[in-house]
Amino acid sequence: MTSNIVIVGIQWGDEGKGKITDLLAKDAAAVVRYQGGANAGHTVVVRGKKIVLHQIPSGMLNDHSLCVIGPAVVVDPQTLVEELESLRDYGIEVTPDRLAISSSTHVVMPYHKRLDALREQSRGKEKIGTTGRGIGPTYEDLFGRTGVRMSDFCNPERLLATLQKVLVERNHLIQLLGGEPCDPNELAANMVDLGKKLAPYIRDVGTLVHEKLASGQKVLFESAQGTLLDILHGTYPFVTSSLTTAPAAFPMLGIGIPDNRRVLGVVKAYTTRVGAGPFPTEDVGDFGKRLRDAGGEYGATTGRPRRCGYLDLPALRYAIRVNGVTGLAVTKIDVLSGLGDLKVCQSYKLGNGQVVSTLLPEYLESGDLEPIYETWKGWDEETVGVRSLAELPANARKFLELMSSALGVPIDIVSTSPDRDDTILNVDLWG
Ligand code: IMP
Repeated sequence: MTSNIVIVGIQWGDEGKGKITDLLAKDAAAVVRYQGGANAGHTVVVRGKKIVLHQIPSGMLNDHSLCVIGPAVVVDPQTLVEELESLRDYGIEVTPDRLAISSSTHVVMPYHKRLDALREQSRGKEKIGTTGRGIGPTYEDLFGRTGVRMSDFCNPERLLATLQKVLVERNHLIQLLGGEPCDPNELAANMVDLGKKLAPYIRDVGTLVHEKLASGQKVLFESAQGTLLDILHGTYPFVTSSLTTAPAAFPMLGIGIPDNRRVLGVVKAYTTRVGAGPFPTEDVGDFGKRLRDAGGEYGATTGRPRRCGYLDLPALRYAIRVNGVTGLAVTKIDVLSGLGDLKVCQSYKLGNGQVVSTLLPEYLESGDLEPIYETWKGWDEETVGVRSLAELPANARKFLELMSSALGVPIDIVSTSPDRDDTILNVDLWG
């Protein structure tokens, strides 16, 4: 029996992980978010109602899973409190027996966001296109041992003492980049109320999850962003500042690698990316625009239009290897209806003439590579809301078969709309 599943994006984020997490969470005792921060936007549609979660795991939308924010997440306290309030508006009261935040989780402070914006400005044409949520600077402080942790944040004296220390250097940098320094006293005073609101949720999350697994309960791990945005394994420097890959879930939470696990790689039936950086199968012409319109490809966090392009099998082979993917969840297959025959990248020809079937991020550094495409037959029939493989048009089924055999992994789930119920489940993932 599977005791734990890691849900991981295997492209550049926005694969539709939120819906898949929400779906599998109904059988899970706990759902753990293990990295990233309010840069993520996980959209879940339940009976026509759209809910966007940035930091709270998507398991909050059922009535029983314990939702855990691990120590390697960076929490924006203001946004988190707003998320709690908007859930209340949906009729979900987030009590401390439903949400646990690690005392070691680092906090995104206003000066981190200021630095994020100033850095982007100073990069000029080399901009990364960050979400502006202060993610990079907060992780810098985490690794630089100058961060503010939840345990400091919820204790006004400790918070003030920490800010007085760390702002000396941070304010120099802010001023160097042309920004206004932050006053530690004012900042600490402004944070008191937020600290009081979040304090009841602070727990030792490693112990909580370990105990659940040890007693045979099911735990879901939810990643944010995508493999190609991973700080080590992505298209550096056009990446986010955390480890977005599946194996990172366990050490980042503070537990050993549990047995009986699955790694579900979530993949859109085409490719998108927001922000700058290489994207070799991007279509900047009519097909890309049609995908953007049909798929509603605008960022859940920033509203930015997403860059769109063809499915990239070599990049997926790399992501499957990096994550140890055991099965795929293919999302947005419905978007491909009526778009004609579909180009799919099979391999790449590198500048030296070598043809490779797996894309390594280092090949993208020189930009000297050419995608080699095959064309797969498209289909015109609507597939929104289809709930069994048999109901899919023959060419859509063929598309999925070709994808699975080219990647060497089974397709466990197919999603045919953002709604929780519009899903084809090919296997009992907890079975
Ligand atoms: P940061 O995470 O805000 O520092 O942004 C770094 C890069 O990651 C930028 O290209 C962002 O657009 C991208 N990014 C960050 N979070 C997400 C996400 O949740 N989905 C897609 N792209 C993201």
